[in-house]
Formats: sequence, C-alpha cells, structure tokens
Amino acid sequence: MDEILRIDDPFVATRRVTTCPVSRGGIQVPEGQRVVLSWTSANRDEEVFGDPDRFDPEGNVGKNLVYGTGPHVCPGRPLATLELCVAVEETMATFADIALDPDLRPERSITPIGGFSSVPVVLVPAR
Ligand code: HEM
Repeated sequence: MDEILRIDDPFVATRRVTTCPVSRGGIQVPEGQRVVLSWTSANRDEEVFGDPDRFDPEGNVGKNLVYGTGPHVCPGRPLATLELCVAVEETMATFADIALDPDLRPERSITPIGGFSSVPVVLVPAR
C-alpha cells in the first residue's frame, strides 16, 4: 500500500523553519529560513528510486517517505494502513471486478492535496 502512495503521494508538502545553516544539493540555506519540504518530490527522487514509477514495494520500503520522517513522523500510519487494507480487502471480497468507468474521467486533486479527488469506477457484483 505504501508503495502505491509513494508513486502518487497524497501528502504533498510540509513547511519548516531551519534551526541552523544547512547545505543541500549545493544550495546554502541560512538559519531561520522558511522552507518547503516536498514529500511528492522526495518520494520520486530518481537518485534514490531510479525510475520513480517502478512499483517495487520491497526494494523501496526503507526509502519511502509517505508518512514523513524524524520527530514529526505520522502517528496515524497504523490506522491509515489498516483503513486502506480493509477498504481494498472488502472491495475485492464484495465485487467480482472493478474497472475505470469508460464514460467518466478521473479528476486530480488540487495542491496542497495530492492524488485523485474522484475516480469513477464500474463495480461488477460477485454472484
Ligand atoms: C495515507 C494517510 C496519511 C498520510 C500519507 C500521512 C502523512 C503524514 C506526513 C507526511 C506527516 C509528517 C508531516 C511533517 O513532517 O510535518 C504526518 C504527520 C501527522 N499525521 Fe499523518 N498521514 C496519514 C494519515 C494520518 C491519520 C489517519 C492520522 C490520525 C488519525 C494522522 C495524524 C497525523 C498527525 C497528528 C501528524 C503530526 C505529527 C507531528 O507533527 O508530530 N495521519 N502525516
């Protein structure tokens, strides 16, 4: 589940203020500077993941930043993972097939929310 979220991160960015001078990627950032951490960009960094669209849950598990890192790492991770697993398991148990609705287009969310706001699907009930 985390690898799907890595490829299309729902949590786009976080703001911070630097507490000391820092250098990243050849850029010097002074203390007290407002910065934006882009989780979407970090989770698609080619230097870390190679092809960012490649689905590799086991290979990328230690590099995945979907739930953040450090002292503010997401405390809701176990609940979010449980909810997502239950939703997928119950959908698969209830329906024989699921496919994109050929007549309606999925809609992307607008920043600061990532992912999709709407994905119309056709559900085929199990017999
Ligand atoms: C797919 C679902 C979720 C994603 C992708 C996600 C992602 C994140 C990320 C990246 C952070 C770090 C933000 C930062 O560093 O400033 C964060 C923090 C946080 N998340 Fe989540 N989260 C999810 C679900 C949840 C849920 C279900 C809860 C609560 C029930 C939750 C509660 C929190 C809280 C309270 C923080 C702030 C922690 C702190 O600042 O110390 N999250 N989340």
